[in-house]
Order: sequence, then C-alpha cells, then structure tokens
Amino acid sequence: MTDRYAVIGNPIAHSKSPLIHTRFAHSTGQDLEYGMVEASLDGFTQAVRAFLDSGGLGLNITTPFKLQAFEMANEQGARARIAGAANAMKFVGGRIVVDNFDGIGLANDIEHNLGVALKGLRVLMLGAGGAARGALVELLARDPAELLIANRTRATAQDLADSFAAHGPLRACSYAELSGEAGFDIVLNGTSASMTGALPPVPAGAFAGATLAYEMVYGRGLTPFLRLAQNAGVPHLADGVGMLVEQAAEAFFWWRGVRPDTRGVIDEISVPLV
Ligand code: ATR
Repeated sequence: MTDRYAVIGNPIAHSKSPLIHTRFAHSTGQDLEYGMVEASLDGFTQAVRAFLDSGGLGLNITTPFKLQAFEMANEQGARARIAGAANAMKFVGGRIVVDNFDGIGLANDIEHNLGVALKGLRVLMLGAGGAARGALVELLARDPAELLIANRTRATAQDLADSFAAHGPLRACSYAELSGEAGFDIVLNGTSASMTGALPPVPAGAFAGATLAYEMVYGRGLTPFLRLAQNAGVPHLADGVGMLVEQAAEAFFWWRGVRPDTRGVIDEISVPLV
C-alpha cells in the first residue's frame, strides 16, 4: 500500500508542500502520496488522530498549529524543544514524534544554496516571534561572529537573547538602537510584516556593506524589506523559498531515510524578486 503523508494547517490551500514532496518522492523513487489537511481552528488534535488512525505515517505542520503539535507529542526532538514548536510529525508504533526543521532549512539554504558561510559573519535578525525563534539556534550553530535581534517590542528580543545566550554571541536591540549599529554581513527579515506588505522600521544604514538580505516569507516577490535592501546596494537578495524546500528535504529524510535533491524544486516554485 502506498504510504501517506500530508501537510496540516489553516488555511492550507496555498501550501507548496504537496508539490515539493511529490517531486521528492518521484526523484528518489519513494512510493508515497502527500496531501493536505485543513483542520478547524479548534480541531487540530482530532484531525491529527484521524490521520494517524487512517494509516497516515507523518505530517508537516504549518500555521497556526506548530505549538499545539509540539504539545501533543509523545516525544520531542531536540530542535523542536529549542524552538518550543514543531513543524514535522511522524507516527511510530502509535506514538507521535515531532521535530522542527525550519531553522536547519534556513541555515542550509544560506550556506549551501546561496553560498554564504555564516562562520565569522555579523548577522542581523529582524523580529523576535516564532519564525525568528525557530532559526536562532541553528544560525548560532554555524558560528557567526555575532547575531543581533532587533524587534519592535524590545523586551521580546531581550527574552530571546537571554534564553539562548548559551548557544552563542547573541544580543538584542530596538529598531531605534539600530542606528548606532553597522557592519552586518547578512540581514534577515523574520518579522511577519511582509505578510501585510508592511516594512519593519529598519534604518537603511543597517544594510551598508551587507552581502545578503533574506526575507523569510516566500512567494511575495520584491517585498518592501527586499526593495529597501536593493536600494541600499545589497548585492544578493533572497526570499524563503529555499528555506521552505530545505526544511521539507530534512523532513523527507527524517521520514524516509533518503535525502532528495532540492535544486530543481526550488527553481520550479521560485517567484522572481521583482
Ligand atoms: P511568527 O510566529 O510568524 O514569527 P509572531 O510570533 O506573531 O509571528 O511574531 C511576529 C513578529 O513580527 C514579531 O517580532 C513582531 O514584532 P512585535 O514582537 O513587536 O509584535 C514582528 N512584526 C509584525 N509586524 C511588524 C511590523 N509591521 N513592523 C515590525 N515588526 C513587525
């Protein structure tokens, strides 16, 4: 019988995960089908149980259920524990095992696909919500010289910096304090501002000398953040499409023990940054 996987979220219709995993299955010769489950906002755990009971083997978890997925698990991988959230689930003998591959997806995209080694670089992360939190430890594991988190609500950034201080050189600041900072190699937008076409109040000077500006959402073309970076002369702009495909590849490997090639799928679903 063909093995079954799916992505679960609300809303879910826009998800690229079925296409990505179907391409992975085809290119690696794995016999699996991958669908979508839209759970009602108060029906996540029931939807997971129903999928499990019907013989499904694993799920990807997307907004707004990453926290609930983490909480309902019988076993949580180290990355999920650090993020306090899960984006992948597998069922092992009726037990629910979760992990989180968002951070490793981002770090692998930056280093392997975009060719920027993080070791020794100064990195600026805008935002201190779930997306930023999920990425911090994996970025620090690649040994940057510094990681500065700037957030509208400064206290949230400070909480993150305090929580993860043991993992590497991490500081927090407000956007106003950024005007006294310079010399970043990479600027990442981990805020949700681009979802509404908004721009975090980052001073253009923060981009001076940077090699890469990275928008962690995908498929929105040249967002206000990327346009600001482009106008400031940043030579390399990227959105989160590579992060999406790389986290999917990690989940696929976790489920199937086979590592798919990611380049073709990234090219297929990329939206031009114009
Ligand atoms: P997610 O889990 O997607 O990261 P979240 O936890 O709601 O979502 O966090 C959203 C992040 O985007 C926060 O860092 C938020 O800043 P605050 O902590 O000050 O709320 C940030 N954010 C959202 N809209 C923003 C905007 N227009 N300008 C700057 N930051 C914004």
